Amino acid sequence: MSVAAPAAVDTRPAGIRFDQVSVAYGKHTVLDGLDLTVEPGELMALLGPSGSGKTTALRAVAGFVRPVSGRVFLGDRDVTALPPHRRGIGMVVQGYALFPHMRVADNVAFGLKARKSPRREIAERVAEALEMTGMAAYARRYPRELSGGQQQRVAIARALAIRPSVLLLDEPLSALDARLRSGMLAELARLHRELPDVSILYVTHDQIEALTLADRIAVMDHARLQDCGTPQELYRRPRTAFTASFVGNANLLPVTLGEEGPDGTVGAALGATRLRVHGGGAPASPGATATLCVRPHLVGLGPGPNTLRGTVAEVQWRGATHRLLVDIAGIRLKADVRELRTPPALGAEVELHFAAEDAVLLPATAAPEAVPGGGGHG
Ligand SMILES: Nc1ncnc2c1ncn2[C@@H]1O[C@H](COP(=O)(O)OP(=O)(O)OP(=O)(O)O)[C@@H](O)[C@H]1O
Ligand SMILES: [Mg+2]
Repeated sequence: MSVAAPAAVDTRPAGIRFDQVSVAYGKHTVLDGLDLTVEPGELMALLGPSGSGKTTALRAVAGFVRPVSGRVFLGDRDVTALPPHRRGIGMVVQGYALFPHMRVADNVAFGLKARKSPRREIAERVAEALEMTGMAAYARRYPRELSGGQQQRVAIARALAIRPSVLLLDEPLSALDARLRSGMLAELARLHRELPDVSILYVTHDQIEALTLADRIAVMDHARLQDCGTPQELYRRPRTAFTASFVGNANLLPVTLGEEGPDGTVGAALGATRLRVHGGGAPASPGATATLCVRPHLVGLGPGPNTLRGTVAEVQWRGATHRLLVDIAGIRLKADVRELRTPPALGAEVELHFAAEDAVLLPATAAPEAVPGGGGHG
């Protein structure tokens, strides 16, 4: 009888491709036709609210859930039917899941031992992974003898030890306090730079993590991919109100569109207030409703190009800035302005303004979706 060969692990740079991947539990579809490509060496953040299907998407790549339809590719390999241990993937799950009865070094060696790697190679790889995550001095400790941040590093070292071409991270920082989190964020950015061939899918519902780390962000909601782009694209030019509100802070104002002017700006009426903003290429149909998005830090206090008058409802001092909440025509507008020596009093009448190029026009939030191909009959 032949001895089983250790599972071959492909370590060539490989991207991840979801091809119409759907996952269902019973009748409940929790991932709906996901089409998404992570390029080799790219860090893609999966961002979305709780229950939107982020972990499910990760588990489909790892092989812990079987799609009801669609295919998962790693590089050019179709891995849809492959068991998890044959995929050569490193994964850090929500909550780390270190083995409590094993020392740090044995935790990190786990994947290599499961693959029956030679003993010398295991020792080398474990040392390398612990070095990379700054945990070399803790090899003999047990997980209970480590802080949350240190356990986090061990979990990452364990995932890296097999030298995966694909790394899956599920909310890796969610258990850490705010200060540790920002330190680990810098560490992860460094790891991403040091591992240019490793494709990373990074699940988070923290937009700061996504904006800071990701080469691109995929925005999920209700089991579906809503948007995908670089952090700058999604932040500066969001395509939907959902993306605008989930990637960064946003004021979303219901407006009625007017005529396009010779300077390329479009009229937008917010109640009785007439505004002019850049249309962003979308054909404007006068009379149509739309959502105007402007970021709070781009709203200034005082009169300006697009002036809005309202009543101060709340003033929040945030150290370097003041956040003003101002009621305008039944809408509460957020403005983040440089710290004011004399902030306005509650109930005071104030003027706010923003530049035409700092606003983005989006499809009206409540409007029904357009029928593709204009396929209405009469
Ligand atoms: N094993 C399971 N059996 C049945 N339903 C499940 C199972 N795992 C997940 N679900 C459901 O699938 C949906 C998506 O879950 P998923 O864990 O992918 O969400 P998520 O985006 O990772 O959320 P969170 O941010 O809270 O971690 C949820 O409605 C969840 O209840
Ligand atoms: Mg999750």
